[in-house]
Amino acid sequence: IKQQVGVIGLAVMGKNLALNIADHGYSVSVYNRSAQKTDELLKEAQGKNLIGTYSLEEFVESLETPRKIIMMVKAGDAVDATIKNLLPLISKGDILMDGGNSYYKDTIRRSRELEEKGYHFLGTGISGGEEGARRGPAIMPGGEEEAYRMLEPVLTDISAKVDNEPCCTYIGKNGAGHFVKMVHNGIEYADMQLICEAYLIMKKVIGLTPPEFHEVFKEWNKGELNSYLIDITADIFTKQDPNTGQYLVDLILDVAGQKGTGKWTGQISLDLGVPTPTITTAVYERYLSSMKEERVNASKVLKGPENLDKKSKDFTEAVRRALYASKICSYAQGFGLMREASEQFGWDLKLGDIAKIFRGGCIIRAQFLNHIMSAYDKNHKLVNLLLEDYFKDIVGQYQMEWREVVKQAISAGIPTPAFSSALAYYDSYRSKELPMNLLQAQRDYFGAHTYQRIDMDGIYHTKW
Ligand code: 6PG
Repeated sequence: IKQQVGVIGLAVMGKNLALNIADHGYSVSVYNRSAQKTDELLKEAQGKNLIGTYSLEEFVESLETPRKIIMMVKAGDAVDATIKNLLPLISKGDILMDGGNSYYKDTIRRSRELEEKGYHFLGTGISGGEEGARRGPAIMPGGEEEAYRMLEPVLTDISAKVDNEPCCTYIGKNGAGHFVKMVHNGIEYADMQLICEAYLIMKKVIGLTPPEFHEVFKEWNKGELNSYLIDITADIFTKQDPNTGQYLVDLILDVAGQKGTGKWTGQISLDLGVPTPTITTAVYERYLSSMKEERVNASKVLKGPENLDKKSKDFTEAVRRALYASKICSYAQGFGLMREASEQFGWDLKLGDIAKIFRGGCIIRAQFLNHIMSAYDKNHKLVNLLLEDYFKDIVGQYQMEWREVVKQAISAGIPTPAFSSALAYYDSYRSKELPMNLLQAQRDYFGAHTYQRIDMDGIYHTKW
């Protein structure tokens, strides 16, 4: 008898997903280019219905038809190469699922190519890191709905659950799943940057120590900010380096890595004409962080303000409020980007359902997504999250502390671009008047680009 599901690519995500699928009662075949990973997994999977195969032919042969093949290979060329090698072996009607962090335009292309040939293709975003893949990730499948229905039982079974409901839902055609995963990561970048800025402000202005940070974040995690990222942040501050006894966080080099999904979110928001300043600035800050040598040199040359205005521990509440208000703005931006993409690509994204599956399994999982979910449930045409009562009220209530925190950071010379850009986004968005009358005049002055008037219809040009 043949196996029900196949997994190709046994790096951490693939391996853990294969184990997760097997744990849910499915029979699984696995294949990896180097046999060593396969053997390691087989040892770990003893007693489970999971078999190893050592060639693609053997792998494909071992699966029942229509075959359900999940590729967990590195995004980019490896996905195309794997598809190319599989094509001569599989049959029409088989389903290929790409569960990596693929670029959504690649997914659109691959869907078209494979669907034209009679195969099914699902581009599926999977979030939750190592632990999520093993115990229940959030899953964002894109492709033909018919193909999704064939894999739905497996995907919903292995996904995280919130209130007994799976954190997996059909997202939309072709690249929709990978697009939504990309925006998830963009939001993840902004969430992380905002938490890091809150940390920096409290470190510099209040002088909190790691054990105090642990307490503060632990407290925050009990309230509105309750989320996976706040939770792990609290935990990070407890870890001591076994050799030096110092807190590990203080020994880590301040240079951020990245694999590209945040950058794509910024690029696409420019392409689609949707402002996502808080997300994009989080990407810029990672770039700036990696210019370590330049920063060290500049720190010796460029002056900042002389005196730091110290604050007491009470100031943590203002920082918490600033963080929550900023977070709301960054989600407004990310969901705004999905809304526009849905229009432009004809995806018919259900933003409420997306918020719903983000509540569990994924890196940005948070209590607060319940509010986003109900905002879109109430009004699926909502143009901006900020306009919904709950968010409007919070931001309105917290704005004075938010402004105060940004002011403090600015006068102390502490870089907090995500806090500031979120606030600037809020202020721009709620401005009836922006100075673009002058900008239009400038454009017309030097380039005869014309302008419109507020008092008369038509297009005008002036000889300035
Ligand atoms: C997830 C994560 C994951 C991502 C890492 C690293 O949802 O599980 O988003 O997909 O690869 O978080 O991202 P960077 O290396 O770009 O920080």
